[in-house]
Amino acid sequence: MEQNYTPETGGEMALRDADETRRDGKKVFVKTYGCQMNVYDSQRMSDALAADGYAPTDRIEEADLVLLNTCHIREKAAEKVYSELGRIRQLKHERSLLGRETVVGVAGCVAQAEGREILRRAPAVDLVIGPQTYHRLPAVVKRALGGEKIVETDYAIEDKFEHLPAPQKKVVRSRGVTAFLTVQEGCDKFCTFCVVPYTRGSEVSRPVAQILAEAEQLADAGVRELTLLGQNVNAWHGEGAVNGGASREWGLGELLFRLAEIPGLARLRYTTSHPRDMDDALIAAHRDLPALMPYLHLPVQSGSDRILKAMNRRHTGDDYRRLIDRIRTARPDIAMSGDFIVGFPGETDADFDDTMRLIRDVTYAQAFSFKYSPRPGTPGAELGDQVPENVKNERLQALQALLLEQQRGFAASLIGKTMDVLLEKPGREPGQRVGRSPWLQPVIVDEKAGEIGDIVRVRITEAGSNSLFSEAVF
Ligand code: SAH
Ligand code: SF4
Ligand code: F3S
Repeated sequence: MEQNYTPETGGEMALRDADETRRDGKKVFVKTYGCQMNVYDSQRMSDALAADGYAPTDRIEEADLVLLNTCHIREKAAEKVYSELGRIRQLKHERSLLGRETVVGVAGCVAQAEGREILRRAPAVDLVIGPQTYHRLPAVVKRALGGEKIVETDYAIEDKFEHLPAPQKKVVRSRGVTAFLTVQEGCDKFCTFCVVPYTRGSEVSRPVAQILAEAEQLADAGVRELTLLGQNVNAWHGEGAVNGGASREWGLGELLFRLAEIPGLARLRYTTSHPRDMDDALIAAHRDLPALMPYLHLPVQSGSDRILKAMNRRHTGDDYRRLIDRIRTARPDIAMSGDFIVGFPGETDADFDDTMRLIRDVTYAQAFSFKYSPRPGTPGAELGDQVPENVKNERLQALQALLLEQQRGFAASLIGKTMDVLLEKPGREPGQRVGRSPWLQPVIVDEKAGEIGDIVRVRITEAGSNSLFSEAVF
């Protein structure tokens, strides 16, 4: 998915690529499902495999190694993987007729959740590797090439941040001016609908020194905007020191201040947060740290206290409203984003109305909403009173209509305003570049306004369905 492999067409580069192909022409195709952490992990896996001579390709039929980095969050997400594996089985067979071997690997959350079961259901698969054991991937691939079927999902907690090698400068350059950096992994919250605590394990924070080293490398390679990742990113904590002073316990707020000092890094974001971990220092960072962008993804899931309790969210709708008030007092222009689940077991019309009311009270600039999907092994799947599919569909439609109206309203409110845009890539039309607003919307900018990686001042002229249009302000 995020493999931006484009074959070089320039003379000298093409020759060098051809040489490399002749010497060691192995190719890897990685397909990424699910959340940003999977995107980050796929990049790290590609980087590690590159060191073993695997060039990335976006053409699955020419891949010697196919890796699916999977998501288990909803049934549909997991089932997509099996249909893809069915197609890959055929492909593997066709390649074998041409005398070419194909190693097929399943990584990510389906790998962790289903392990050996994947080998049983999908005979084309050679290796299954869970998110906590990616540092063993190169060795596992070698064993699979020797004909072994491998399931690598056992890990010790200290393995978690035995991460794969940091990306090389030229690779980061090819990926652009924004980057993800995982600072925390796993979850101890055990919301009753969610598989993440089982697939990603318990909450672990990555040490400050590792984070700073990777952030510095990324900045040095031209990254201007960094998004810190974690399933509960605002639960991150670690030992940090300021100006060589004594080290003390830091939360995400302190870490963000430190990262903002890295030359070249102009913008910081983080995702995904839990309302219970939004502490004062982090809220203060939204007030005092200009590099921290005024956009916050803070899922609430439901507006009904009864349902929130059944979900084990351990906050009420009003706790969440009060929290948003505090955040908006600190940073009045902050745009809120959220996740919602409709049709959790036992959800009545009145519960759903509470969710709609909360959405009206908060006003979201962006949101993701889902029909509840019972997941094996989670407490929610055991509950009686599952909501019928047609009711879930109706509620989802009503909720999405409201959220879309809010999203459009937010975009329209920016027309005529000036703002800074980080230019990320060429636009679809000649003469255009595409950048991001502080609120994460794509903005179309005249290419004369600046180069990719520049932050330019523009005035918004029009709001399209997915992006904003602008004129440069000189
Ligand atoms: N760590 C984040 C989100 C993790 S999963 C958090 O705490 O909010 C991303 C989103 O998927 C969740 O916020 C939730 O809205 C949705 N989700 C998780 N499990 C689900 C399920 N069983 N059915 C439907 N949606 C689900
Ligand atoms: Fe899942 Fe809840 Fe943990 Fe988020 S906080 S990952 S929704 S269990
Ligand atoms: Fe999916 Fe795993 Fe992310 S279940 S949402 S890929 S943490």
